[in-house]
Order: sequence, then C-alpha cells, then structure tokens
Amino acid sequence: MSTLQHRYLAEMGIPVWRLRATDAAATATVEAGEVPAADEAAEPAVAPTAPSAPPSLADGHFENRSCAGFGWDQLAAAVRDCTRCGLHRGRTQTVFGVGRRDAGLMIIGEAPGAEEDRRGEPFVGRAGLLLNAMLLAIGFRREEVYIANILKCRPPNNRDPQPSEAETCTPYLDRQIELIEPKAIMAVGRIAAQWLLQTDVPIGRLRGQVRQYGPSGIPLVVTYHPAYLLRSPQAKAKSWQDLCLVKDIVSENQ
Ligand code: URA
Repeated sequence: MSTLQHRYLAEMGIPVWRLRATDAAATATVEAGEVPAADEAAEPAVAPTAPSAPPSLADGHFENRSCAGFGWDQLAAAVRDCTRCGLHRGRTQTVFGVGRRDAGLMIIGEAPGAEEDRRGEPFVGRAGLLLNAMLLAIGFRREEVYIANILKCRPPNNRDPQPSEAETCTPYLDRQIELIEPKAIMAVGRIAAQWLLQTDVPIGRLRGQVRQYGPSGIPLVVTYHPAYLLRSPQAKAKSWQDLCLVKDIVSENQ
C-alpha cells in the first residue's frame, strides 16, 4: 500500500495495522447492544452474521421509463425544472450529480442536505469530506467517480425520503446510471441501499458482499453512510472492507 493511501486511511481514522482489532471491537460493541446514536442509529442494525442470499435484481425501477432516451442535457434540464413532487417547493436548487460521465464507479447517496441544497452539489458537507477521503484511500479522486443521490431535492429538516418521493425521482437516477454505465455502484447508507435493492434487510447484512442493480445487473456494494461513520468511527473498518471490495470490482472490469 502506498504512502498516499496510508495518509488517507489515517484521515479516515483507519490505522491499517489495527483493522482486525477494530473490527472485533466494533462487532463486540454491536453484540453488546451499544448501537450508536441518533438519526443514523438504524444504520448498523445487526451484528454481521452470515450474509443473506443476494436479493434478486432490483430492476423494478426501470419499469418507469419517463426519462427513456434522454441525453445529459435533456436530463439535467428535466431535473432542474422538476415539480413532480412536493419537495420542489422547499428547495434552493436541485442537486443533479457530479463527476465523470464515463466513470467506472458511481456513488449513490440518499438526498441533498442543507449544504448540498445551497451549493447544488452532492456530498459537500462534512460527510462529503469523509467520502472524498474514503475514495482517495482506494485510489479515486472525487472528480474521477460520479456522485448522485436517490433524491435530487432536499427533504425538509433532512427527514428521510418518502417512498413516493423516491419512486418519483428514481427515473432520473436510473437514466444517469444508464448513461454512465458504471462498472460498479457503491450505495452509501441504509436508505440508498434499501431503496436500490428494494429490501428492508438491515444495512449490516447488506454490506460486505456484491449485489446487483438494474436489468444489466451492475455490481453494487453497500457501505455505511459517511455521516454515520463520523459518529461511529468503529464502523470504519467494515467500511474499508466494502471500499476494497468495490475497488476490486472496478479494477477487474477495466
Ligand atoms: N448525504 C447524502 O446522502 N447525500 C448528500 O448529497 C449529502 C449527504
């Protein structure tokens, strides 16, 4: 591993030589029932037991073809002008997505927060800085990947997206995925993971293995949301495993 990677791992709070110990400690914490804090408390949910069988292809979203055939400009304009759900009333602006339109890796989060709503770009707050460090740790600069959210508008008070909002907004995301044709998707956080995979399996059992998304079965890896990792650093060791998994997929398919 290079010095650069060591540096970014350190920024993430992951001393390489402590991986196994940290992992054991994290497992012990969860097993002891000390599930950490507040709004991301549902994030780890369970100790990582034997992984469940991968869900079938989550291609149901692709049935809504309302953006079929859109090019990038048409898609961006449709998102910018969107009034399909009530969230448009509270937004400063839509948050379309950023990055390379031929990226090998696509990151999908939940929804814009306050800072993202203000700046029109996903993952630019504190969680975004950690996401950048996570990506650098596996050799990707932020500009080299594509980053988007399930929702393009900020939910009020950062509440969870409602299923109807996610359903309405997903055709935009699906068209982004179709245009990019990423080698792998990394879903960050419980909400994005459960929505994309159309499951209520807890994130602790979704992460750590390769899933698939869409009719073409794009490899999808789930990991914890960086906002959760900021509050629960003991989960970073597991997140590092997920990052390595997704990196391997992208490398293998280049
Ligand atoms: N959290 C998300 O899921 N997406 C963002 O863009 C910012 C925070």
